[in-house]
Amino acid sequence: MIKITERYIKIDSVGNSLILAKSIDETTSANNEFLQLLYYGKKLNDHDDYGIFGEGRADHYNGTSNDEYPIVPTVFTSSGDNSGREQYARISYDGIFTNHFVFAGAERVDGFDSPLPTARNKGETVKLSFVDKVSGATVNQYYTVFSDSDVIAVHSEVVNTADKEIFVLGLASLQLDFSADRAEVVTFDGRWGAERCRHETEVVAGKLSIESRNGVSSPMHNPFFMAKVGSKTMGFNLIYSGNHRETVEVTAYKRVRIVTGMNDYALSYRLDKGEKLVSPEAIFVCKDTEAEITAQMHGFALNHIVSPVFAYKERPVLINNWEGTYFTFTGEKILDIAKKAAACGIEMMVLDDGWFGKRDDDKTGLGDWFDNEKKTGGLKKLADGVKALGMKFGLWVEPEMISKNSDLYRAHPEYAQAIPGVEPTERRWQLCLDMANPKVCDYIAETLIRLFKEVGVDYVKWDNNRSMCDVYSSTLSNQSEYFYRYYVGQYSVLRRITEACPEVLFESCASGGSRYDLGMMYFMAQNWASDNTYAFDRLSIQEGTLAGYPQSSMGAHVNAHGYSLETRFNVAAIGAFGYEFDITKSTDEELEVIKNQVAFYKQHRKLLQYGNYLRIGESVTKSDIGGWMVISDDKSEAIAVLIEKERTHMLYHPRFTFTGLDENALYKVTARKQANVEKTLEFTAYGDALCSDGLYLGNFYHTEKDKKQYPNTFSSRMFYFKKLN
Ligand code: DGJ
Repeated sequence: MIKITERYIKIDSVGNSLILAKSIDETTSANNEFLQLLYYGKKLNDHDDYGIFGEGRADHYNGTSNDEYPIVPTVFTSSGDNSGREQYARISYDGIFTNHFVFAGAERVDGFDSPLPTARNKGETVKLSFVDKVSGATVNQYYTVFSDSDVIAVHSEVVNTADKEIFVLGLASLQLDFSADRAEVVTFDGRWGAERCRHETEVVAGKLSIESRNGVSSPMHNPFFMAKVGSKTMGFNLIYSGNHRETVEVTAYKRVRIVTGMNDYALSYRLDKGEKLVSPEAIFVCKDTEAEITAQMHGFALNHIVSPVFAYKERPVLINNWEGTYFTFTGEKILDIAKKAAACGIEMMVLDDGWFGKRDDDKTGLGDWFDNEKKTGGLKKLADGVKALGMKFGLWVEPEMISKNSDLYRAHPEYAQAIPGVEPTERRWQLCLDMANPKVCDYIAETLIRLFKEVGVDYVKWDNNRSMCDVYSSTLSNQSEYFYRYYVGQYSVLRRITEACPEVLFESCASGGSRYDLGMMYFMAQNWASDNTYAFDRLSIQEGTLAGYPQSSMGAHVNAHGYSLETRFNVAAIGAFGYEFDITKSTDEELEVIKNQVAFYKQHRKLLQYGNYLRIGESVTKSDIGGWMVISDDKSEAIAVLIEKERTHMLYHPRFTFTGLDENALYKVTARKQANVEKTLEFTAYGDALCSDGLYLGNFYHTEKDKKQYPNTFSSRMFYFKKLN
């Protein structure tokens, strides 16, 4: 519910309240009206008076001040506040870059326009307006609440209500201020092959800024993060796939400011009279624990981001040929893989890179999205052959890219992102396409819709294997708009394609998990978590990913090597699951193991993909033992995986604990039968005991038979819980 009174704006989600007060800035004789942030946290009842939170008088001070004054908490700032702190909006007018924004009113609205994806199934929205006394420009901030979530969404737009053109130099999505002397921040950072690994930073002075600047949300810093400030644990994310920036700033007056949004790096967005620029939607939530933040983020993604067609749809078990064949395959080979896979119960064959144009390595062909019949034996025929086995058929594409050695480049070199007269920097021998150019967008949308329909694909893996530089569009007079306009174009293409093919399941991919964000998730229900398929490395990648995103979104495959086949399954089974190797080379014994794994996965797929996810104990980045659980809503069944990263425990068995079960219920607990472990394990116990620290489960891996083959193996075991009473 949103309430607007004479004095207050109270924005209530299901479990949180954000309370703003209309206030006069008494620190300066201009007497500007602004919005004071009185409270953000657990939901409060409606009261007539919130003065107890320092309304109108918080820390006003008019003495000597060369520092961060004013320090009154607020949700909107610009350069005119003289504080030197992180600001929400920066607009330049006539070469002047100081703004004096004043609060100009609040009104309930039915909705808003945005060229970017924004949360689905909105509840109520309030629009707060601020007008710049310098330029005359207006910034509108929109807060939206939802009927089933504690999350609040917020974004803004700059409308040029000035008398001539303005330039937007920075426009955030969210600002929150708190009185506290520190913030404990959890970010999910990394690189190719090690995406979204958990890091904890305590900020006591200065800023922690995470950002991306190369055109994708990036593997370096995910836009999802958590921050503990005082007693509040908060989670933040952005519905955007481009350059982003999240800042947590702590100052000597014991103030914490959190600002999130698109990055202002290389941004100088020109708005002529009447035009507007809309920022991406940020989401935020406040709970007591990290686990509750994760639950809120999962629920929000499924109910308000992912397409309703796929939000709760069970995802097929797939096999992908990439790690099995790379570029060296024929249609016949793919069909052989599909046959063996179908016999194991696998439900979808995904044909990866190399089926199109002229592409036998990564140097050529991107942009030429037509069948290389000589290689595939006819794509449509291959798809039909796979479907005749009772399987679905999926296809890889990398639409936002172009190889210099391609027909598309020879015909349209101007489609590539490149500065005229300058040899552009290639990465993986490819250039980005200029998605700010409507002709490029039309080419991609039309070509791919035709292709997907002709072949009859059930699934598309949409890859993106390099980030941007040589930023230039022949269609723009101002290149400082490029990063934003790229996504306006790219999202419009995704919208067209997903509307034309609503039943096709899309999986976003970017050299693994380099663009794992809510912007892509709006169009693509799944996201390939990482090119690193080693089970051990996956522990931290998947744990970090699942802190902010639901397990049904996370592509996770069993690869061919590294660890025992059973451990590889135990790790991958928490995601949108599949296999990624040449199954025609598997032994009969291995095929039997795979068959059993697939049967187990399918039997428990709903629970695995949509059960309530909880991490067990400490993060795997900190502890030798750990794991995860998924629990049904009514807690009548659950699955847990326990892992022991280093088997150094020669003389004793480590103690474990489960989590999230019904404390009063009696459960039958059965360890999944693993082909490499003889020991079976089945017992009954009450939920309260199972969730207590220090469970003695003995050596539940016993001696893995394949230990010699995988000497570096870590150990794992999966447990199924069924409530008995
Ligand atoms: C990078 C992806 O992450 C891989 O899974 C694979 O699709 C290759 N690209 C293909 O080029």
